[in-house]
Amino acid sequence: MCGIVGYVGTKDAKEILLRGLEKLEYRGYDSAGIAIANETGVHVYKEKGRIANLREAVDETEAGFTGIGHTRWATHGVPSKLNAHPHQSSSSRYTIVHNGVIENYEQLRREHLVGVEMVSDTDTEIIVQLVEKFASESKTTEEAFRKSLSVLKGSYATALLDNQDPNTIYVGKNKSPLLVGLSDSVNVVASDAMAMLQVTNEFVELYDEEIVVVTQEKATIKTLDGEEVSRASYVAELDSSDIEKGTYPHFMLKEIDEQPFVIRNIITKYKDDNESIKLDENIRQAMAEADRIYIIAAGTSYHAGLVGKEFIEKISGIPTETHIASEFLYNMPLLSKKPLFIFISQSGETADSRGVLVNVKKLGLPSLTITNVPGSTLSRESDFTLHTFAGPEIAVASTKAYTAQMAVLAILAVDSAIARGVKMDFDPLQELAIVANAMDIFTNQKDTLEQIARDYLSLSRNCFFIGRSMDFHVCMEGSLKLKEISYIQAEGFAGGELKHGTIALIEEGTPVIGLATQENVHLNIRGNMKEVVARGANPCMISMEGFAEEDDKIVMPKVHKYLTPLVSVIPLQLIAYYAALHRGCDVDKPRNLAKSVTVE
Ligand code: F6R
Repeated sequence: MCGIVGYVGTKDAKEILLRGLEKLEYRGYDSAGIAIANETGVHVYKEKGRIANLREAVDETEAGFTGIGHTRWATHGVPSKLNAHPHQSSSSRYTIVHNGVIENYEQLRREHLVGVEMVSDTDTEIIVQLVEKFASESKTTEEAFRKSLSVLKGSYATALLDNQDPNTIYVGKNKSPLLVGLSDSVNVVASDAMAMLQVTNEFVELYDEEIVVVTQEKATIKTLDGEEVSRASYVAELDSSDIEKGTYPHFMLKEIDEQPFVIRNIITKYKDDNESIKLDENIRQAMAEADRIYIIAAGTSYHAGLVGKEFIEKISGIPTETHIASEFLYNMPLLSKKPLFIFISQSGETADSRGVLVNVKKLGLPSLTITNVPGSTLSRESDFTLHTFAGPEIAVASTKAYTAQMAVLAILAVDSAIARGVKMDFDPLQELAIVANAMDIFTNQKDTLEQIARDYLSLSRNCFFIGRSMDFHVCMEGSLKLKEISYIQAEGFAGGELKHGTIALIEEGTPVIGLATQENVHLNIRGNMKEVVARGANPCMISMEGFAEEDDKIVMPKVHKYLTPLVSVIPLQLIAYYAALHRGCDVDKPRNLAKSVTVE
């Protein structure tokens, strides 16, 4: 949610900041801005809408080697040019960008800033006004910045410019992600390494309640008390081609197509020389010691968690509950005696999940994060991490991260079953290879799926997905994909529940997509489909070889019964993609959303 960048170096800062923001646009895209510092002062440009609008507004002749930038997902204040960052202090001495939410901004205003006129509706402006206030009390800019951050409650990744020193940026972090990038005579900061791969692949993490003073020569990390901190850098193993669309029209389509490759990659990463599962012994032990697993996640990752519960209970025999992070955070159920918490998060930054992790740590309970970003906050702060190896996921709608999460959960479930001495006739590594081949077949059937999207969804205002057991979980994911990118009201239902209320919504022509990939309930879901057809629904049945019927629109190749969700979701992803495309929606950047939800 919101992305920030900062640059101090030897090249044209504006171009590097704009390119960095383009890479961060997935984090928010309702307005954007940059500030360039040079000997004539600090020059601010901001615009409502996409980075492309900002690029057009920036003066091409604007020159400067230092600058900060921001792309916004609105929290406080509507998306507008006025509320876009950067924000400036009353005298314009200080200029700031901020990702996060300042919870006590009203209180700080009353305590410290009586009489100071606020220009915007944002909580961010309070920070820059505080710095100016504290600097006027004969503090240096760095001291004023540290003091300001120390009175804030909430989350921030923030970067500050002082127009009296065009060669320095002051950066602080609490709860929102932030990295410092290092290179020769150039230092940068960014919410995500991808934004600054254009400059360097050497990064240092910043921890909560730390600042870094960045100049061309060095980046000095300090605590809020001013104590210097030394921390080793690391090389980000990211290939800049991973974050380009290549010949694809959208990242979402590219990422859907990458799924077979991602699954094969996971097989390689989790296989040892004897073709057995390779997993950290400590994770194995944590699973072995747990009397109950609590899976915590949000959105698509929550849907993967629902499937994960099935894997862990059915394969390893450990009772498992899956919870929506934002609910668990304020309504914790009774816990078992020896729980293990598994957090699932593509980004590793989701604030709701992190909130739960903070509480879990306070209780001294063990935690494992399954994530696509190993250096992320959830990964760093939990006891163990399992990497999903899906490569950067840029489209806001998650696709390859979802299937990767389920693949890793299946491997984890089997590993812990073996460790518990459960007799196993399911080899996830072999079965995942079959899954990858089945995925290939679907990614090569785009014309058929595009036609289905046209036939069923071009003019519909709603769509229902029905399934039972694991298919039900996939229906929830399929409906989320469709609603978030095409804005068609879509819902996933357990087939047996329809007659308890929802069937009232079915009318002539209502599209109903049914999943029938579970042998033990495929006849039941076919029965449920007949019930909606009798009330006028337009049915689209997706089934699996072995128990397909003549009228089924799509028949997926046979895969192991546990792993059907990894394959049956692919046609749903593609149908959602084409439905959004035909409705003229912005597939990669749907309205009101952001990729990484770092506010509660
Ligand atoms: C939907 C989607 C979101 C995320 C959710 C959690 O396509 O991407 O629902 O799954 O915001 O994000 P992570 O997995 O990063 O914690």
